[in-house]
Amino acid sequence: MNMKPIKDVDLLKGITPVPDDQLPASPYGPCNKCDGLGNLKTKTGMMSCPDCKGKYFIQKAIESCGVPEELRVISTLEQFKQAHESTPEMLEDIEKYIQSFTKKSGGIIMHGRSGSGKTHLAMAILLRLIERGFSGEFVEWAELLRAYQNSAYNEQGRDLSWFYDTLDVDILVLDDFGKGMKVSEWVAEETYQMVHARYRKRKPTIITTMLNWPGGETDRLFGEAVASRLEHHSSMMDFNDLGNYRREGGE
Ligand SMILES: Nc1ncnc2c1ncn2[C@@H]1O[C@H](COP(=O)(O)OP(=O)(O)OP(=O)(O)O)[C@@H](O)[C@H]1O
Ligand SMILES: [Mg+2]
Ligand SMILES: [Zn+2]
Repeated sequence: MNMKPIKDVDLLKGITPVPDDQLPASPYGPCNKCDGLGNLKTKTGMMSCPDCKGKYFIQKAIESCGVPEELRVISTLEQFKQAHESTPEMLEDIEKYIQSFTKKSGGIIMHGRSGSGKTHLAMAILLRLIERGFSGEFVEWAELLRAYQNSAYNEQGRDLSWFYDTLDVDILVLDDFGKGMKVSEWVAEETYQMVHARYRKRKPTIITTMLNWPGGETDRLFGEAVASRLEHHSSMMDFNDLGNYRREGGE
């Protein structure tokens, strides 16, 4: 048998090389350590560039964290305009929270009127924390429960690992807590299980909600066990004095 090794030139036959300036952008961006593709040449061989692989994984984590692509550039602290005299202090507190965040930090309960920027700021915090290397997810409370319900009661191929993975991230944003689903006994019980799963491990959760939290609406709907676990170690952020930005718009 005539086994002829394929040479590199054979593989390139008929292929027109792409000019350098038309090559797709490196997913890692320019790097002064490696070849820009995450390959680092060392005396003993090739290894992964720690800078670039890190950036790559962070990019992947951002893409899959649940914040829609078009909102990733809008929902930032920098884009949050002064909506009330308390805004600068609120942003300062948030900046401090992000910078001093650890896996054992407390959560935040953002409560108050519609359109006041709760979801915007919750997304901003999450994205910054993922950039810092923490795992995190953004989910709407009602969506999460519905998806869980569908998985849990689907006889074939019941796989709830995605649900437990979601509950296990370093920072979880539960958006629109208490909205979009009637709080039946089942809903209250499953919410308790969710909240308790994080509370047991002292994992921080950011809640956005229109429930009148200091007024005890959460206690009434979900019970004291849910409300007090969420409050434990958490900061309250009141958005009621801020306008409805969605309706009134910016300047
Ligand atoms: N101070 C602000 N500066 C810039 N954009 C803002 C500000 N407040 C809100 N927005 C924008 O207004 C829209 C509504 O804000 P957001 O969705 O965060 O409100 P919300 O408090 O979560 O409301 P809801 O309770 O109805 O969910 C978003 O597009 C958000 O980016
Ligand atoms: Mg919202
Ligand atoms: Zn590199």
